[in-house]
Amino acid sequence: MSKTAELNIDGKTYSLPIFTGTEDEVAIDIGKLRDQSGVVTLDPGYKNTGATKSAITYLDGDNGILRYRGYSIEELAEKSTFIEVSYLLIFGELPGKDQLQRFRDDIKTHTLVHEDVKKILDGFPSTAHPMGVLASLFCSQTAFYPESLDPNRASESVYLSIIRSLAKMPTFAAWAYKNALGHPANYPDNSLEYCSRFMKMMFALPAEPYQPDPVISAAIDKLLILHADHEQNCSTSTVRMVGSSQASIYSSISAGINALWGPLHGGANQEVIVMLESIVKDGGNIDKWIAKAKDKNDPFRLMGFGHRVYKNFDPRAKIIKKAADDVLGKLGVKDPILDVARNLEDIALRDPYFIERKLYPNVDFYSGIIYRALGIPVEMFTVMFAIGRLPGWIAQWKEMRENKEPIGRPRQIYTGQKERAYVPITKR
Ligand code: ACO
Repeated sequence: MSKTAELNIDGKTYSLPIFTGTEDEVAIDIGKLRDQSGVVTLDPGYKNTGATKSAITYLDGDNGILRYRGYSIEELAEKSTFIEVSYLLIFGELPGKDQLQRFRDDIKTHTLVHEDVKKILDGFPSTAHPMGVLASLFCSQTAFYPESLDPNRASESVYLSIIRSLAKMPTFAAWAYKNALGHPANYPDNSLEYCSRFMKMMFALPAEPYQPDPVISAAIDKLLILHADHEQNCSTSTVRMVGSSQASIYSSISAGINALWGPLHGGANQEVIVMLESIVKDGGNIDKWIAKAKDKNDPFRLMGFGHRVYKNFDPRAKIIKKAADDVLGKLGVKDPILDVARNLEDIALRDPYFIERKLYPNVDFYSGIIYRALGIPVEMFTVMFAIGRLPGWIAQWKEMRENKEPIGRPRQIYTGQKERAYVPITKR
């Protein structure tokens, strides 16, 4: 028998259906509450609102669990590759050997972007943040592939857009970086795999040989896996929301890139390094910075700490912390910022302010340190996050379309003026 919840408003009782997910998560379905009672629910920031039913990612914030399509993030990070995880997220199952080969080959076929993209790139000053450039170049694909604007197009055409998105993302990302340097853009080298290809486009200089370091490529691959999906976060919800109006996949993902850019979301990894550098420059007095983070009159927050959903630990942060130690060890990098990060984490985790509020290091706390060790410039950190999150955005966009979800349109509670008569300017 299906369960229901009862809600009493002004003495009248309403029966609301209860929906239970595969992991026994329980939700009260309030979809018809307004029709029945005239009442809406209020939940700024959607802190307690399930916006969709999704079969892609399972996250248990209290127990630090993250699974893509049922597979644990720990296992995927250790045994899989970013391309295989992308296939898993988008199509629901791990690929067979032939499926994976075809997927990889299809991506390689589309890594090149239209030459006219360079004209768009040329329009950006070198001061442009690569995230803004990336979002713009991504959205520009609607112009190069206008068939993507058709909301009812055939599934093969949708597949092609998915492949193009995955294939061209590293090219756009590397070109955005080259634009910031004022250097010529490199073309994709399809003899290389995804991460090495990206590294070569980022770092190869004209007339100089470039050999991607396999340690660096493997570390980047792992980081991309860890970022690949995270259910209904700010950027993913944005992708679903924009896509729900039947906007094209390119404009939906471009909106997701913009949402990711902010310092409270994907921009935090850049802010972590800025913060750690400020602490080192300031003499390394960690207690002073912890006190600033706790001071309610000071807007400063410990960047890379706290999470809307994880309240005990972020499983991705655990994996990244270990990977940071491994990679820095293998590359022989000694970074004073890493010592500050370790001390900061140590002190914060013993401080009642952080313990009471369940504030733990999140994925961004250590990812910035690895990116820095790998030679990725700080303004590219959030771009790296976007490359990793792309398959998640695609999977969520595809699921939203296949489920035929209605256009996203939240309600509000109006708190402004009651109706009043217009006053002519001469009488004000
Ligand atoms: N430093 C100091 N205090 C903090 C921090 C922090 N990093 N994060 C939260 N708090 C405090 C708040 O001031 C608040 O205190 P109060 O109860 O005394 O008012 C309490 O902890 C709860 O904070 P909220 O902002 O209500 O928590 P919310 O779930 O809305 O925010 C968020 C989560 C945005 C991640 C927040 O912890 C934060 O700003 N962290 C720093 C930025 C960051 O690292 N973002 C990356 C998130 S992970 C990702 O997007 C990949």
